[in-house]
Parts: sequence; structure tokens; C-alpha cells
Amino acid sequence: MLYFSLKVFMNYDIPEIKEVADKLKGQMQSLSNKADILKSAELRSLFDEIKTMPADKRSEFGKQVNALRQELLLEVQKSSGQLETLGPLDITAPFDPNLKTQERPQFLPSQNGSQHPLTRELNTILDIFYRMGFTAVESKELDDDYNMFSSLNFPEDHPARDDYDTFLTKQQDDNGTSFIAPAHTSSMQNRILKRLKYKLNEGEAIAAVIPGRVFRNEDLDARHEHTFYQLEGIYVDKGVNVGHLIATLKTFLQNYYQKELDVKTQPFYFPFTEPSFEFALSCPFCDKKGCHICSQTGWIELLGCGMIHPNVLHEGGIDVNEYTGFAWGSGIERLVMMKYAIEDVRYFESGRLDFLRQF
Ligand code: DAH
Repeated sequence: MLYFSLKVFMNYDIPEIKEVADKLKGQMQSLSNKADILKSAELRSLFDEIKTMPADKRSEFGKQVNALRQELLLEVQKSSGQLETLGPLDITAPFDPNLKTQERPQFLPSQNGSQHPLTRELNTILDIFYRMGFTAVESKELDDDYNMFSSLNFPEDHPARDDYDTFLTKQQDDNGTSFIAPAHTSSMQNRILKRLKYKLNEGEAIAAVIPGRVFRNEDLDARHEHTFYQLEGIYVDKGVNVGHLIATLKTFLQNYYQKELDVKTQPFYFPFTEPSFEFALSCPFCDKKGCHICSQTGWIELLGCGMIHPNVLHEGGIDVNEYTGFAWGSGIERLVMMKYAIEDVRYFESGRLDFLRQF
């Protein structure tokens, strides 16, 4: 997992977690390699337990287990000096050695910085998926035709390829093919299936979310950027169906917006899912009464999803007679814009301090 957030740590009021917390914190003192504590059997078995918890206990249990892991991680980082506060940097090199120290220009102290709202929200989003048993994998920022299209069941020269307005590199590989700046995080699906296939053999599901930056040759306006973030999700196991897909997304959205929501699907087309859906949620702002956020419709079309096409599973080395799965892809800015009523997607990449300081 590449992302984590440093939070205020909680009191562990679940006795089982408290007991492990006390034990591991004690053990850590005597470890020469403190990072070993993160691999301890006790911590792993707490994570395993999350999956088998009754639904009404799972959320709190998962929250506390994740908090414990973060607390231990913070200790590990402290002990290896990774978290020392950084002093201000002087960028005026080669500087004038004749100037008195206090007269030399200085950078602002690093303590004056803050996390970008997208980073912060992404951490919140990933935390919700960790609590549902998903793991996170980062996507790539340069890819190829196989991962962007062919492995996802886009036939050669199929018009669906044109929907993605991809940027290509001038440089080409030995076969004269350009590289692609990925236009969606689905380009990670084939890699994830191949990489996590071993889980199925161990009787576990493949459950991964993939945040990443994607690029499209778009005309820019308040709703369109050439560079934005997506979150892909993949879940594969025996007997997975559309009900699981809808329940997963609904649970995520209700946690993210911290309220009850209605959801609905309508048929759509993507080459890599069958059936494919467009997924909509009731407007978190007006609860279906109609407002400017939802263009008076009460609903917001949020993301694309569906059951992973058998050709895609097969290409990833999965036995399609035994396993099925679902996938989705959502713009992260969209989610955040709706949470805070942000009107223009271009603010995120603008570096505007008046915008950033609100977070
Ligand atoms: N990759 C699609 C896009 O960017 C979104 C998407 C749709 C992803 C359906 C999926 C999916 O994984 O199953 O337009």
C-alpha cells in the first residue's frame, strides 16, 4: 500500500485489539529492526478477522485495527528518523558568502505547507476500502497499447478506442509503436489480475483499488481537465454478482458522504464489462429534491462499472468457469467536488492558494 494517513490515534476500547496493541508496543522496544512489528502474526490475524466479523461490528473493528497499524508505522518511522522535522531550505545557491545569514533569502518553513485536498480525500477514500478488505496499488503514468486497450477486450481499430482521446509519445518502441499516457486506470486491470491471481488459489478474493493519474486530450471547461485522477476497483471470487457490486459501491459512498443514499444503475457499454452500467447516486446535497449540483434531477451519474468481461478475466489468467468479478472506475475529483460543492475541476491543478487554503 502506497498511501497512508497520519491520524490522531484512538483509544482501543475493543479488548482484543487493546491486548494486541499493548503487547506489540511492548515488544517493539526490544526489536533491533522495528519494522518487523508490522509483519507480526498478531497484527495479521486482526486484519484477517475483519473479513469474518458480523457486519455491525466490522466497521469499528476495522477502524481500530487500521489505527493500530498506523500507530505502529509512525513509531517505526520515528525510530528510523524518517519523521524528523525539516528545516527551511535556502535555494539561492550559489549564494553570496559575504551576506550575513539573516540577510540571505530563505524558503518558507516547510511547516507552513499542507496536504493538497486531493491527497487528503484520497487517503480518506482508501481508508474506507481498506476497512472493506481491499488493498491499494498505484497505477502507472506511462503505458502501452496492450494494457490500455487490447487486454481489455478492445478489438483492433474498434471505434470505442476513440472515446479515450489518448496522448501518445513521439518515441516508439522497436516495433514502431508509441507509448500511451493512460486515459483510464482500467489499464491496470490485467496486471492486477495476473499479480493477485495467487489469492484465488489460497481461497481469498482478489480485492484491489487502484488510484492513479490519467490523461485525456479534452477541451477544458469547469467539468473537464486534461489531467485528473481516477479510482479503479476490482473484485474477483467465486459466485460474485451484480448485487455485490452495487452493495460495495453503496457502502463506500455512504461512508464517504456520511449519509444514507439511494443508488441506481442504467445499462451502458464498455468493452471490458458485460453487463456494463452507469451508476448514479441520489444527490448528497438535496436528497433528491433537485438543486444546482444535480441539475435539478435529484440524481448524479457518477461512474462506470460492470461485471468483468470473461475475455478480460481469461487474458488475466483467471478460469472463467470458476470465477466472476466486478470492476468500476470513478473520477476522484468528481467525488470530492460533490462533497464540498466545488464548482470548477480546474481549481485542483491550478495551484491557487485561495482555493487550497480552504482545506
Ligand atoms: N475506464 C472507464 C472510463 O474511464 C471507467 C470504467 C467503467 C472502469 C467500467 C471500469 C468499469 O472498471 O468496469 O471511462
